[in-house]
Amino acid sequence: KRLVVLVSGSGSNLQALLDEIATEGAEAYGARIVAVGADRAGIEGLARAERAGVPTFVCRVKDYGTREEWDAALAETVAAHRPDLVVSAGFMKIVGKEFLARYGGRFVNTHPALLPSFPGAHGVRDALAYGVRVTGCTVHFVDDGVDTGPIIAQGVVEVRDEDDESALHERIKEVERRLLVEVVGRLARHGHRIEGRKVVIQ
Ligand code: GRF
Repeated sequence: KRLVVLVSGSGSNLQALLDEIATEGAEAYGARIVAVGADRAGIEGLARAERAGVPTFVCRVKDYGTREEWDAALAETVAAHRPDLVVSAGFMKIVGKEFLARYGGRFVNTHPALLPSFPGAHGVRDALAYGVRVTGCTVHFVDDGVDTGPIIAQGVVEVRDEDDESALHERIKEVERRLLVEVVGRLARHGHRIEGRKVVIQ
């Protein structure tokens, strides 16, 4: 299967996918990364792709007249790589109608909280501020809401008394990277269907 991965930051989740595919082999893993895209230039996520010899592209909102034009351009650029699955690995933009029309049902996101609790850009901070004792990460399909799509898998992380946002996020990311690698591999190897809110991996 062909994967396009979208990033906005450090790209450690992307790296976990790259490492797994390099170690296992694309055949055994079931997928390879054909391109990495970002909404900004100069980030470590893009550098990781370049070091792995994976083509990259940047699609910035500010280069387009409207958000819709940006969304259509992103969909178009991704489509040029003919992906079977698109993975948002710390991609901090909400995609629009055009993108979802093409990739809805095969656009996977990872979120650093146990959805439906604490959606949005500050899931770790919000969970900590709320005082929950367990949190974690959620790998889910993207729909037209913010972190509201069908859940594929979740991982649990305990909150420690001494945690601050960054310590907790680091521990979540360890679980998140393993979960994302596992889920994307299973989706690629087995395929899936979505029944209501339930994701069934065949
Ligand atoms: C992850 O925790 C992801 O869920 C989030 O931002 C982080 C991205 O980390 N929204 P990285 O860029 O993969 O290192």
